[in-house]
Amino acid sequence: MALLTSIEISRIRDLARAGDYRAAGEALNAIESVDGATTEVLQLGAEIVAMAGNHRGALEILKKLVGRSPKSARTFRLAGRSFEAINDFVNARRAYLEASDLDPSDDFSLAHAANMFEATNEFATALTLAKRLESRAPSAQQRFDLRLMQASCLYHLGNDDESFAMIEPLLAQSPEDPRLLTLQGRVLMRFGQTDRAREIFQTALQHAPESEKATLRNLIDFVDGNVGDGLDTKVTESLFDRYAAKFDSHLVGRLKYSAPELISRVAREHFKSRSFDLLDLGCGTGLVAETLADLGGGRVGVDLSEKMLREAQKKALYFRLHQVDIRQALNDTQAESFDFITAADVFNYVGKIDDISRNAWRVLRDDGMFCFTLELDESNPNSTATATPSMRILHGETAVRALLTEVGFHDVEIESFVMRYEAGEPVNSAMCSGVKRRALQ
Ligand SMILES: C[S@@+](CC[C@H](N)C(=O)[O-])C[C@H]1O[C@@H](n2cnc3c(N)ncnc32)[C@H](O)[C@@H]1O
Repeated sequence: MALLTSIEISRIRDLARAGDYRAAGEALNAIESVDGATTEVLQLGAEIVAMAGNHRGALEILKKLVGRSPKSARTFRLAGRSFEAINDFVNARRAYLEASDLDPSDDFSLAHAANMFEATNEFATALTLAKRLESRAPSAQQRFDLRLMQASCLYHLGNDDESFAMIEPLLAQSPEDPRLLTLQGRVLMRFGQTDRAREIFQTALQHAPESEKATLRNLIDFVDGNVGDGLDTKVTESLFDRYAAKFDSHLVGRLKYSAPELISRVAREHFKSRSFDLLDLGCGTGLVAETLADLGGGRVGVDLSEKMLREAQKKALYFRLHQVDIRQALNDTQAESFDFITAADVFNYVGKIDDISRNAWRVLRDDGMFCFTLELDESNPNSTATATPSMRILHGETAVRALLTEVGFHDVEIESFVMRYEAGEPVNSAMCSGVKRRALQ
């Protein structure tokens, strides 16, 4: 690169940093007209476009560089940042890892890759990377953040004692860090120390950014045993928006998720060769519809997460998809509109299911079936809803059987099965179903 060009590039970057994207773009075009679309020009173009907030545009520019030789770590680092900014954590992770492979001294990219592994629930990998990075992190703040990541991963992997032991000294350094306090509260909740956990969540709430407050309010309610409507819908939405891109491969491939197959089996046994119209509550990426794809009938899916719905849309298996709360969807649906209403791995986010069950009965046609999974509260079969520190909501088998019977369902079945594995441990669950048979007049 000519010296003049390199000076000009610094000037362009300064213009962009000052927010004058138009002037930066014009100056860059002037260089491009002389030097052509060199790697530096395209990288700077992508950087400016990303600074202006157009991350998809930045990725389009960077795409032109991916096949170019020699590969540049900077290209992948920029791509990682833009993928991260649009919440595509799986591609962000890939891009950061590629950057770090190309430039082994690029710990910025490796640290971001670790963040992306944590954000996509790959806690064992995030933990390994965080440990590796901590030993060579140059600043105290970076070491702090990497230890916090390790403590969080350990908690998610079920190593509560180790997690707790890491949190204590970090809190001595930064007693008001809301991430640390939230994590400590969750560990204490698992230890059954609810009073201390509540106090800590309340302190965390005072220091937390706006985006984290809904989660903390949920945790304060949960620690007090108030499950209410379950997770705040914004919390659920952002949880699954972040999970969507890797949902199928992670849940089915890694965690051996089996609910859709079992639901398909129950539906086929009930409807035999009859076609049926399906309402898929919390349809996610459409795994349930996939298992029923060879059957006739209309299929409607509803979900809170736009990104999950986008994945479902790609499979083209639903007649209609709506971004809406399942409770609202049921309220807004006319009586006797569907034959099969299902909810696979959904009710562990919504608290009590009384109104949902009543409404499902109303919305079903005669001989229709309501079929859903639950995570069981084995210590309290009479529980209508129990929240765990991991913010999942469990239900008691006896309470659900009584509810379905009281609502009017016949042939109520509650079958235990392992829905998936979490940190290598089976998640004991139940497949529940009931049939709507109108009493003879
Ligand atoms: C674990 S996923 C299961 C997805 C799908 N049922 C399957 O079996 O693959 C749970 C889904 O329920 C959705 N969900 C949770 N609570 C919801 C609510 N109140 N209203 C609508 N969707 C909800 C989430 O957005 C997420 O897509």
